[in-house]
Amino acid sequence: MFAERVLSGMRPTGALHLGHYHGVLKNWVKLQGEYPCLFFVADWHALTTNYDNPQGIEQASWDMVVDWLAAGVDPEQATIFIQSKVPEHAELHLLMSMMTPLGWLERVPTYKDQQEKLAGKDLTTYGFLGYPLLMSADILIYRADKVPVGEDQIPHVEFTRELARRFNHMYGREPGFAEKVEAALARLNSKNRRSFNDLRKRFQESGDKEAVARGKALLAENEALTHDERERLAGHLEGTGKMILVEPGYLLTPESKMPGLDGQKMSKSYHNTITLRETPEEVTRKVRTMPTDPQRARRTDPGDPARCPVWQLHQVYTDETTRTALGEGCRTAGIGCLECKQPVIDGILRELAPMRERAQAYTDDPARLRAIVEAGCDKARALAQDTMRDVRSAMGLNYR
Ligand code: TRP
Ligand code: SF4
Repeated sequence: MFAERVLSGMRPTGALHLGHYHGVLKNWVKLQGEYPCLFFVADWHALTTNYDNPQGIEQASWDMVVDWLAAGVDPEQATIFIQSKVPEHAELHLLMSMMTPLGWLERVPTYKDQQEKLAGKDLTTYGFLGYPLLMSADILIYRADKVPVGEDQIPHVEFTRELARRFNHMYGREPGFAEKVEAALARLNSKNRRSFNDLRKRFQESGDKEAVARGKALLAENEALTHDERERLAGHLEGTGKMILVEPGYLLTPESKMPGLDGQKMSKSYHNTITLRETPEEVTRKVRTMPTDPQRARRTDPGDPARCPVWQLHQVYTDETTRTALGEGCRTAGIGCLECKQPVIDGILRELAPMRERAQAYTDDPARLRAIVEAGCDKARALAQDTMRDVRSAMGLNYR
């Protein structure tokens, strides 16, 4: 029985902020307790758009890992690594590029969207066109079952699924496949063999997906089968040949509702962020200078929380009782805005204090940070090499 595997990556683009924490990292921290998780720094993906200014990428990568650890990603539970330190990703990317139709890449919606959005930059490059293919290699090389991503990345996961299917269909028919399937079937007991054959028939005749799921569960639970036999039978079940690459599913990360300092969504490009390693003085200053209800110019003017960006932060950082009192105070001009902001400041500081402490421990001891990433890279490489052995052999490259 193999546990489902979670994989996700993030491009190193600068200090992470509360939007990343509430949107992505909190979710990773939850997942690491539920599944074996792999989290990696997508530094090659950063190069696809930053090829003209690569010097900051390495430092940004280390900083990002510190931010992850600060936010509670636990290296004892999750595997943390850097994409470019597992060059097997590049080999899989290359091999898959042989059988990836150009039209598939050109039709991925982010291709044109990003070119338009980053209009000042020449993105008519080979590397940028291959962005989704590189992402597919990242996912498929770990046979990941679950990929937590934001909505914008869903087309990339769909692309990955189609590619895996094409790959299995094209290369899954190893020599002697039929005989090998027979041999593997012979290792099931007669009751399991009968239900497996029934489920296969059901799927092949009526496309019943439930039958596939049950067939795969039956294989997964069967301790007598080797990894190869299980994959061969999974391929037989779906009629694709041996299943070499696993079609991943995605876990949609709900869009972060984290508001920034100006009421828009928190985002680096809006310059409205509070970073995870911001000092308490900076946090205090930033919140104290936040704009409030524009109609509350003077302390004596009554306000309306609905018009105030600070109020959105109250939804994240204070409780119902506090909010009722402060809302009343705002509408009656009973309190001033600085007074109203204080509980938000306190809430943010309370959230950030343990993060700053953890981050400090890693910046004080860079050797420890490097050791964590080194160990993660080694673990990831071993998994990646496993898949590459099968891929090379399926593509006729197993020089022995
Ligand atoms: N493209 C992703 C993003 O920008 C990052 C990424 C690269 C990724 N490879 C991945 C995410 C593999 C999940 C799985 O957010
Ligand atoms: Fe905003 Fe609070 Fe000032 Fe009202 S009292 S305007 S909610 S900061």
